[in-house]
Formats: sequence, structure tokens, C-alpha cells
Amino acid sequence: MDIVGICGSLRGQSINRMLLNLAGDCLPAGATLHVCDWHEVPPFNADVMAQGLPASVSALRERIRQADAVIIATPEYNFSIPGMLKNAIDWVSRGDDQPLLNKPVAILSATPGPLGGARVQYDLRKVLLFMNAAVLVKPEIFVGFANQKFDAGGQCTDATTRGFVQAQMDALAVHVRRQQQLLKLA
Ligand SMILES: Cc1cc2nc3c(=O)[nH]c(=O)nc-3n(C[C@H](O)[C@H](O)[C@H](O)COP(=O)(O)O)c2cc1C
Repeated sequence: MDIVGICGSLRGQSINRMLLNLAGDCLPAGATLHVCDWHEVPPFNADVMAQGLPASVSALRERIRQADAVIIATPEYNFSIPGMLKNAIDWVSRGDDQPLLNKPVAILSATPGPLGGARVQYDLRKVLLFMNAAVLVKPEIFVGFANQKFDAGGQCTDATTRGFVQAQMDALAVHVRRQQQLLKLA
């Protein structure tokens, strides 16, 4: 199972990137996470798109298309989706061949504050719903006080967080298989 990871933060020491790495560690045998570097995706501009997709956008779309599933770990910015992430999703969303169609997606979020990104997740779900992505419903993962749950090396030090992420990755593997069976029947 080939899984692509997208971190909603571009920051080097991102706690969401640490959370994404933890998700990768929790995948079942035979599944591998490759975290995608999408920082070169330019601001969305329909005039630019009309002249052909920028290489960074094509690469992101193709990477998602090839993957069996996508894991997005993102911070919350001002109660919503970080602008750069929303921008990248907007580029991915265009056209009948948009690669998130029917694609299994798991969402996680981490914040230093108590709520763990509860609000960003519902905005992100709404956007992915419109794109007909197959977003995993449960378990939901909101990592609050996340700064206290990862060490300086980016390793998770909190057994409860690890347990939640493990449960979500187990559910994602089942969700991917179900989605693949459904698409075969369609
Ligand atoms: C522009 C901006 C807006 C933010 N808005 C929120 C917010 O609405 N809710 C929240 O819990 N944290 C908010 N934060 C704090 C982020 O959760 C915190 O910076 C977090 O570490 C970012 O994730 P990262 O470590 O993966 O980069 C905001 C941070 C920035 C830079």
C-alpha cells in the first residue's frame, strides 16, 4: 500500500510533520508513507492554469493519483485551513481527472493549544467532501498540547497519542481495501 503524506505546515520543526511521521510508523506491514514536498506550488491563478499546469502542480497531482491513500496532517490557522495548503488543494481540485476523486484520505491535526485543530478539520472535510474524496470518518485525531507530546528529535513521547494514531492507521488500511473493492464493483 503506497500512501502519500501531505503536511499542512511548511515549517522545518513542524509538530504536524512529526505527527505525520508517527502516522507512517503506525502503518501496517506492507504499507509505506512517502511525505510529499509541495512547497513550490505557486499561488493559484486560472490564467496560469490555462497555459498548462506548473510542474510542481503536475507532480503533486500525479503523486496523489498513484497513491492508494493520502494522509494530511495540518495545523489550524485562524480557525481554518492554512492558506498554502488550501491553495495546493485548489490546484489539485481542477478538472474531471482531479486525483482526489474517490481517494481514501485520513486527516490529523496538532496544535500547541488545547483543541488540537478541531476547527480546521471540519473545514478540510468540507472541501474534500466537495471533491468527492473518500475521507475516513473515524477515529478522529486531534492532538492538543502537542508541543508536550513530541521530543526534540520529533519522536512521540505520549502513549495515548500513539494509541490513537495507531487506531486511525488500522482503520485507514481497512478503509483503503473497502474503497478499492467498491471501485471494482462500480
Ligand atoms: C497564522 C497562524 C494562525 C494560527 N491560528 C491558530 C488557530 O486558529 N488555532 C490554533 O490552535 N493554533 C493556531 N496557530 C498556532 C499553531 O497551531 C502553531 O503555530 C503550530 O505549531 C503550527 O503547526 P506546525 O508546528 O505544524 O507548524 C496559528 C499559527 C499561525 C502561524
